[in-house]
Amino acid sequence: MKEKTAFVCQNCGAHSPKWMGRCPSCGEWDTLIEEIEEDASIEFAFPPSEPVLYEEIKQAEKKRLQTGIEELNRVLGGGVVLGSLVLIGGEPGIGKSTLLLQVSRDFSAQGEKVLYVSGEESLEQIKLRGERLGIQKGNLYLLAETNLERVIAHAEKLSPQVFILDSVQTFFSSKLSSSPGTISQVREVTNQIFRFAKTNMISAFLIGHITKDGSLAGPKSLEHMVDCVLYFEGERDHSHRVVRALKNRFGPVSELAIFEMTGQGLQAVANPSAFFLKERPVNETGSAVVCTIKGSRPLLAEVQALVSSTLFAGNPRRMTIGCDHFRASMLMAIVEKKLGFSFAGEDVYLNVAGGLTIDEPATDLGILVAVVSSLKNRAVSSDLAVFGEVGLSGEIRSVGHPVARVKEASSLGFQKVILPKGNISHLEKENISGINLIGVKNVKEVIDTIF
Ligand code: TYD
Ligand code: MG
Repeated sequence: MKEKTAFVCQNCGAHSPKWMGRCPSCGEWDTLIEEIEEDASIEFAFPPSEPVLYEEIKQAEKKRLQTGIEELNRVLGGGVVLGSLVLIGGEPGIGKSTLLLQVSRDFSAQGEKVLYVSGEESLEQIKLRGERLGIQKGNLYLLAETNLERVIAHAEKLSPQVFILDSVQTFFSSKLSSSPGTISQVREVTNQIFRFAKTNMISAFLIGHITKDGSLAGPKSLEHMVDCVLYFEGERDHSHRVVRALKNRFGPVSELAIFEMTGQGLQAVANPSAFFLKERPVNETGSAVVCTIKGSRPLLAEVQALVSSTLFAGNPRRMTIGCDHFRASMLMAIVEKKLGFSFAGEDVYLNVAGGLTIDEPATDLGILVAVVSSLKNRAVSSDLAVFGEVGLSGEIRSVGHPVARVKEASSLGFQKVILPKGNISHLEKENISGINLIGVKNVKEVIDTIF
């Protein structure tokens, strides 16, 4: 009998009986790949259950393991939950294997049994990395294997508390005949590991490679199948790496951890604000410091603007890196309308230093001040930080967490903070000493105060 095949979109998983250039379901181009149709019977992960009355459900206390990396525990919502599956996605070479080998090292030092399975590297290669990370004698087992059923058989024999698979794209289940990395394989692998983690109450980590444009990602289609999704980000030319939670069934999302890649693996950055401001130029035009909030934590970021006369009359350039392009254009339009300045003959480049991204409205004021500073060729005092949302009528609107923002600025030695007038009352109760708070109502007041 001829095997039945179907074309499966590697982006969204949609099936099609014939090849098409564009997936009719998600609209991506050139993502359909022929796979052998598997028996579509769905196996349920859990035995059949009965409906239960709400008040009869007992609240189970989630047991968590602490990873030994304080930053990572915070992103996971206070450690990793036993009986959960965490997916860690990121571009190749960003440091996923390094991070999880460090996690393995710390767990094994705490006396937990760890099984690290690699489908990518030989045991010798992993050991070489382990030497750099200073792995000592302990309870860490390594396995180089790509057959999922054999991996699970080993795991059943060894019964580890922590189970790490590197990476989901390299494993294959012999139940399916498609090759590793195809969407049906990565789903099957994830499904089996998820079941294994739940039935044995262990913490499982699954690494997934993601390319910059997210294409042929595979892991993207796994997000709904796992308990927690962490993304590992960073620019190749910067040493810092950011890990953030995109989904977490056991904790808050939008928390973020900042690491630096060093010769001995990833080191948590103790003071992120100081880290991102350390190379800030003093008394240069076009630079402003803004207090933003990342997850539950305040962070100071430097916004840089360069306004220079354009060669493209009628169509000047507007470039932004690290902040929203449309928001920046809107802020420039407000400056033009309310302050009478003109960007008509000017190219405007905006950049957030250190590869950071600022994405909350409270950072409007930082962008606005940086742009005006460069346009007017007037430097902003280096002991000043700002935050506030700018409305379309030029009004400065109050924002959340004013106290945390001001305290962060104060702890880094800033003397003055310009903030929305509406936020001042929150701060009066707090009695923060040694810092001059200047409440402002509109953009005109901001510019009059600074310049
Ligand atoms: P790796 O963890 O293998 O990335 P991934 O698993 O995400 O593909 O390694 C990432 C990079 O980190 C690699 O180029 C080497 C570098 N590195 C260090 O700079 N210091 C170290 O201590 C280690 C182990 C790696
Ligand atoms: Mg790797």
